[in-house]
Amino acid sequence: MSGEASTGRRADRYYIETWGCQMNVLDADKMAGALERHGYVRADGTIDADVVILNTCSIREKAKDKVFSELGRLKPVKDLRPDVVLGVCGCVAQQEGEEIFARAPYVDFVVGTRATGSLPILVDRLRAGDETARHTVDIELRNDSIHFPFDQIRREVTGLGKAFVTIIEGCNHRCTFCIVPQTRGSEISRDMDEVLDEVRALAAKGFREVEFLGQTVNAYRDARGRTLGDLLVATSAQDGIERIRFTTSHPAQMTDALMDAMAAARPKLCSYLHLPVQSGSSDVLRAMRRGYHREAYLAKIAGLRERIPELSFGTDIIVGFPTETEADFQETLTLVQEVGFDTVYSFAYSARPGTAALGLGPDLPDDVKFERLARLNEIQKDIQARRNQSWIGRDVEVLVEGPNRRNAREWTGRTSEARWVHFPGESAPGRVEKVRVAQVSAFSLRGEIVVGA
Ligand code: SAH
Ligand code: F3S
Repeated sequence: MSGEASTGRRADRYYIETWGCQMNVLDADKMAGALERHGYVRADGTIDADVVILNTCSIREKAKDKVFSELGRLKPVKDLRPDVVLGVCGCVAQQEGEEIFARAPYVDFVVGTRATGSLPILVDRLRAGDETARHTVDIELRNDSIHFPFDQIRREVTGLGKAFVTIIEGCNHRCTFCIVPQTRGSEISRDMDEVLDEVRALAAKGFREVEFLGQTVNAYRDARGRTLGDLLVATSAQDGIERIRFTTSHPAQMTDALMDAMAAARPKLCSYLHLPVQSGSSDVLRAMRRGYHREAYLAKIAGLRERIPELSFGTDIIVGFPTETEADFQETLTLVQEVGFDTVYSFAYSARPGTAALGLGPDLPDDVKFERLARLNEIQKDIQARRNQSWIGRDVEVLVEGPNRRNAREWTGRTSEARWVHFPGESAPGRVEKVRVAQVSAFSLRGEIVVGA
């Protein structure tokens, strides 16, 4: 039922702007689904929206700054149309709470990462002009947030073909640089039967790939003791689902049992694993409180390669951690060369409020951080280009995600190894195409559909 039918007037339109990780992208789909059930329809942008929600990220200082500059940009919209409802959700909401009104009093509400269930009713009240609802702050870290009814997720942003499924929320680690435990609370796992119901429903809708999400996805353990390994094996038996991924794994919890389950879930389990190392130096890893050292990380990679030789790896690296010396950084460079990652997400360390790393010494100068970052990126770019070169002339299976954003005449999708592939011709999102790779760059492959495949 649409708002138009029930009230005879134009339905209210919502617009959600999202920053940050996959978890936030999925949260946006959940908010969208919940609002649509309340009769709201999607707006094309802030310009025609009655409800504007910023779904925010605070992992690094820059991400947070972007939110406040966007709020500044939205101020004239509120001045011009005061009845527009403006809300801040996500990690900045969780972290700043009430403070957001001090910097931007024209914001109507602040709803945290585990309180989005209260969103539709709150928005309804604000749209109806209920002044008592103005400046509501709901940042309770609820444990029931994990039970969001999955048939109400809009799954628009992520498109057809591939669906994200949250299996665990929060994080029990205390990495000294990280704000996530503050913004997402402690771990809570969903019941495995509920997850499998969702997987079954997704397969029935035509989704061919599922990616299980969690800040520390391999910490998953439901109330009956079932683990990520159990879930992978059970999912691989689901008809219709052809690809399974999961992210993000913590190296300390990459157990032999999980590695065995990954091997058992092949070939549906994809040939790519994201395993953030953060640093190649055991001293820095200790100061980060990561719970493993360099050799232990390398042993995990070796254990995985032994079981699944074709597995590719991606990682996250922080450069310029307060205690990081040039010698520590060199160890990161040698680790990157030793492993040969397909993808490295590298970040300059950004001091976060309330984290233990603040007590470990002064921030390194920006020029040191950015010079190290540039050196790491240079080395990784060569590694990646070389690894991509090896794909030339080979046929790859591409699950199409949508049109190429840079060239509307091409399609874009991913291989099992999570390499991006662009190709022209007839296709559609959700299809699996066999593509012969003809060209490569550091970041993607390009080719033509193999006719008759
Ligand atoms: N488990 C999470 C990881 C947290 S955030 C996940 O789902 O991906 C993603 C990455 O951001 C981290 O792996 C880390 O490399 C980076 N990061 C986190 N805090 C940071 C900080 N204070 N400064 C720079 N980078 C940071
Ligand atoms: Fe952050 Fe470490 Fe958890 S990086 S999300 S505290 S595993």
